[in-house]
Amino acid sequence: MSAENIKKISLIGSGIMGSQIAMVGALAGFDVVLQDIEEKNLKKAEKELRSRLERRVSKGKLAQDELEQTFSRLTLTSSLEEAVTNTDFVIEAIVEKVDIKRAVFKEIDALAPGNAILSTNSSTIVSSKLADATTRPEKVCNFHFFNPALVIEMVEVVKGPHTSEETANTAFHLAKKLGKTPILLKKEISGFVANRILGKLMNEAIYLYENGYATAEEIDLACTKALNHPIGPFALIDLTGLDIHYNVRMQRYEESGNPEDKPAETIIEKVNKGEFGRKTGKGFYVYS
Ligand SMILES: NC(=O)c1ccc[n+]([C@@H]2O[C@H](COP(=O)([O-])OP(=O)(O)OC[C@H]3O[C@@H](n4cnc5c(N)ncnc54)[C@H](O)[C@@H]3O)[C@@H](O)[C@H]2O)c1
Repeated sequence: MSAENIKKISLIGSGIMGSQIAMVGALAGFDVVLQDIEEKNLKKAEKELRSRLERRVSKGKLAQDELEQTFSRLTLTSSLEEAVTNTDFVIEAIVEKVDIKRAVFKEIDALAPGNAILSTNSSTIVSSKLADATTRPEKVCNFHFFNPALVIEMVEVVKGPHTSEETANTAFHLAKKLGKTPILLKKEISGFVANRILGKLMNEAIYLYENGYATAEEIDLACTKALNHPIGPFALIDLTGLDIHYNVRMQRYEESGNPEDKPAETIIEKVNKGEFGRKTGKGFYVYS
């Protein structure tokens, strides 16, 4: 399958990532199906996407009829079968748990056409941990967007040892057709490139915070005003979600056994209190 032949894209999971990636696809002219096991999450996704596009219309960045056409290319469903029948390219964006992802990959493999590519948007899990749950490991790869997917340009395409050259190249070119700037990693590594670098930055930021050298606000200011980063590490962690950060670090720790990969005490405390960041109104900052 070449990128030119891809007409239909299926997003599995309609959370923060899946919903916005689906809209990236619909805006780029693809037929997109967005699937979730929770009807209420599909409704929430649709409402949020509509209000985002309406904001674009009110700013004059999108015409009203383009909005309608974009939504006409987007189908929402709770049926996995409906989502992947006749699909060309699947992007899984469900919870960051390897066992759950494996079970879903197995189901998708049984339902999707034999030539469809199955990718994961996981932040950390390499696709070799999922590929052998399918009968088509050569068509499995990582396809990693960043939050917010409608805005951030980068997509990391990661080729595992099982992934064919054709699959990796198709995913790379699809990312371009989606208006993104992809990089293609020819060798897989947990966390890939950007998040590994970010992880080191986070560790240092949390070390300075936990040991009372500076507040979260001060550390964010140092990053934005001295290093010229667009957002500080604590504001970023609130945006992506402390729960996501926690799951990613636990996943990496389970893989590496390195205690440095474990989530920091501050993160564990906040997650236990339900302070997940922007999505719950409180993380390192308070949101109205
Ligand atoms: N949040 C981020 O900043 C970010 C960035 C890049 C990648 N990711 C990755 O994207 C994936 C999704 O993250 P998210 O932040 O969108 O999560 P989320 O919690 O916002 O959404 C996950 C969605 O998946 C649904 N789901 C769970 N099990 C399912 C199943 N079996 N079938 C269909 N839907 C199911 C849930 O109902 C939920 O709506 C994860 O693998 C994560 O590592 C997240």
